[in-house]
Amino acid sequence: MTPIAGAAERGPSSHAAASGTLEEPQVRAMFDRIAKVYDVMNSVMTAGLHHRWRERAMDLAAVGPGSKVLDVATGTGDLAIEAARRVGPTGEVIGSDFSEEMLAGARRKQTPIPIPFEWGNALELGYETDRFDAATVGFGARNFSDLDQGLREMTRVVKPGGRVVVLEITTPQKPPLSTFYEAWFDKLVPLLGRFDEAYTYLPASVKRFPGPHDLAAKLAGAGLEHVRYLVTAGGIIAIHVGEKPAPAGGPG
Ligand SMILES: C[S@@+](CC[C@H](N)C(=O)[O-])C[C@H]1O[C@@H](n2cnc3c(N)ncnc32)[C@H](O)[C@@H]1O
Repeated sequence: MTPIAGAAERGPSSHAAASGTLEEPQVRAMFDRIAKVYDVMNSVMTAGLHHRWRERAMDLAAVGPGSKVLDVATGTGDLAIEAARRVGPTGEVIGSDFSEEMLAGARRKQTPIPIPFEWGNALELGYETDRFDAATVGFGARNFSDLDQGLREMTRVVKPGGRVVVLEITTPQKPPLSTFYEAWFDKLVPLLGRFDEAYTYLPASVKRFPGPHDLAAKLAGAGLEHVRYLVTAGGIIAIHVGEKPAPAGGPG
């Protein structure tokens, strides 16, 4: 999740932050700026629950010993590390992101197997088609400047039968969390926007992002089948999964 950052001047992009849409250079600069506090704020804002959500996301990715996994927009690498626990020494996990500072945070971590944390743009992945058993993204898809393109790229790099998993914050529909969410996201967090546009951007980007039903349609639109999702944590977290179909005329 996008954490709260330290004080910074409001830039010309404040308006874009308020609408929840930032251009790629602004997204990258924002994550470079908040990278050092990202993990702490993640744990504070989710009361440590994000680890559990990552486990559930990786359950849906259905990866096990020997699997090859790409974690897109990996940030400080926690979802990639969860994948690494599961694939073991015979598997492979790559974490990719376009923020050097976030990647630096990932590279400082101890990992169960060596994980290359590589610079890469999710909208133009530098990996061959059909290379991975699963491609995952945690709290990153909301920041893609072109969500459909990001989903298409994740679909491209997984093998037929492989899975694409999207773990993301969503807007709760029912009380009590919808009430709490409104107070927190609509009133308190935007007040902090005077210190850093990340505060303004976080709630706005969640609101702008497609709800679970629409996101499922986007996964299908990217070419995935058997798309399903679960909503957890009282309705604030959605985890989507879809499978890449076998080529027409091929086995399965
Ligand atoms: C909220 S953080 C999530 C980090 C991590 N996946 C996690 O689960 O904590 C979003 C990350 O997405 C990355 N990101 C956003 N758009 C990207 C893109 N087009 N290509 C690569 N990384 C991107 C940012 O640099 C940032 O590290």
